[in-house]
Amino acid sequence: MSERIYIFDTTLRDGEQSPGASMNTGEKLRLATQLEKLGVDIIEAGFPAASEGDFEAVSQIAKRIRNAEVAGLARTSKADIDCAWGAIQHAAKPRIHTFIATSDIHLTHKLRMGREEVIAAAVDAVRYSRTLTDNVEFSAEDGSRSDRDFLCRVFEAAIEAGATVVNLPDTVGYAIPEEFGQLVKYVMSHVPNIGKAILSVHCHNDLGLATSNTLAALGAGARQAEVTINGIGERAGNTSLEEVVMALHTRPNFFPMNSGIRTEQIHPSSRLVSMITGIMVQPNKAIVGANAFAHEAGIHQDGVLKNPMTYEIMKPETVGLSTSRLVLGKHSGRHALRTHLKDLGYDLSDEELQLVFSKFKELADKKKHVVDEDLEVIVTEGILRTAETFKLEYLHVTCGTTVLPMASVQLTVNGRSVRGAGYGNGPIDAAFESIAKLTGTEAELLRFSVSAITGGTDALGEVTVRLRENGLIALGKGADPDIITASAKAYINGLNRLEYLKHHPVNRSEAL
Ligand code: KIV
Ligand code: ZN
Repeated sequence: MSERIYIFDTTLRDGEQSPGASMNTGEKLRLATQLEKLGVDIIEAGFPAASEGDFEAVSQIAKRIRNAEVAGLARTSKADIDCAWGAIQHAAKPRIHTFIATSDIHLTHKLRMGREEVIAAAVDAVRYSRTLTDNVEFSAEDGSRSDRDFLCRVFEAAIEAGATVVNLPDTVGYAIPEEFGQLVKYVMSHVPNIGKAILSVHCHNDLGLATSNTLAALGAGARQAEVTINGIGERAGNTSLEEVVMALHTRPNFFPMNSGIRTEQIHPSSRLVSMITGIMVQPNKAIVGANAFAHEAGIHQDGVLKNPMTYEIMKPETVGLSTSRLVLGKHSGRHALRTHLKDLGYDLSDEELQLVFSKFKELADKKKHVVDEDLEVIVTEGILRTAETFKLEYLHVTCGTTVLPMASVQLTVNGRSVRGAGYGNGPIDAAFESIAKLTGTEAELLRFSVSAITGGTDALGEVTVRLRENGLIALGKGADPDIITASAKAYINGLNRLEYLKHHPVNRSEAL
């Protein structure tokens, strides 16, 4: 009999803690809608006490999402729990997720609390949360480095106080699969009331073992996996949703378990996360990397042509990589575009469709075939990036072997049109110089990378930049058939994200 595994997605909370990966409320709502379509059981929408922006985003997600549970994170203080509840109370299925550290290292050096005090704080927090909702998760932060018997006592007390899920995090990614599986077995057999709750695990990837540890834990009795799309998250990231789900799916004999995930939504979700956060997926990343289904060696290609099963353990279609993709061109009409966008998960208003349609026509004039990835870029750039301080109106560059590279730029800055020009070492440098002058910003360019979204010389070039200004870091992304324009768009997107961060300060607790 196959056992149900609950997928708790924390892309919007732990994932957003990836350096530079801030998302605005519109982007978070879009992502939450996609996560619901993907079929995750729980969406951890944010940490409402961290900032007003987080609170606002969590409450909007809670109002929008109807099928998945919506969780809000809170420390054990009453103020944090009230704030989390304030944000999620309108959800169809709200969940309060409260946590406190249980390892001696954290107790001594961070919390400066004794073990009994930690148990009391956990119990009070769970009990108080239960006065607000009957769906309460308790997490023992740094659980994998905690004393086993103390961890079991905390879980027992939390369940006794009313926790319906207890979560065992490997907060610093220190665990080894065999050891983590044994710890889960220990908890299962030494927490007398564990049968009244679901045991969850939450792994980080500092040693590259997050997926292995999660699978070992599921094999040992855990029934909820906390994951993120593309494995994004604090430091080296969290367990990746797609890896766990596809391991269960591909090896049912080994894992007699099933998740409610619609696997064909994995690729669209991955693409959306990378587009919204600006964090690119490494080409060799399992399941969602550009090379995950590419066969380079002749022997492999020959085998796959004869029978895909020779070298492919999963079908690309299963994870949403369709081989027969609908291609739109400049003769495609508004109706075809609307229908296709709907299939991709974008239900646009008439006004939004009009905007996307005109951008689509512009692109179709430059590029023969417009594919899904191109449309996703148009929607992300045109619809999701709404509240923008800076907007590119016009860019003209002169460059070549005999001229000093020069860029003249027109931008909208807070609704006002401004124009200027600048020189640089190359056309991109000149464009960035002019943009910085016009916006009055002094961001340092920490990273710059270019790639092609699809094949062919007319493909959209996709540029990612990483910017730092006054200690704040933001990623920016831009796409265009012309890579200099794509670079300017990425730079401006990064500046907009920095502006957003300046006006939405995040007060992430030391405890996270
Ligand atoms: O890594 C961690 O311990 C966490 C907890 C808040 C669950 O993210
Ligand atoms: Zn975490």
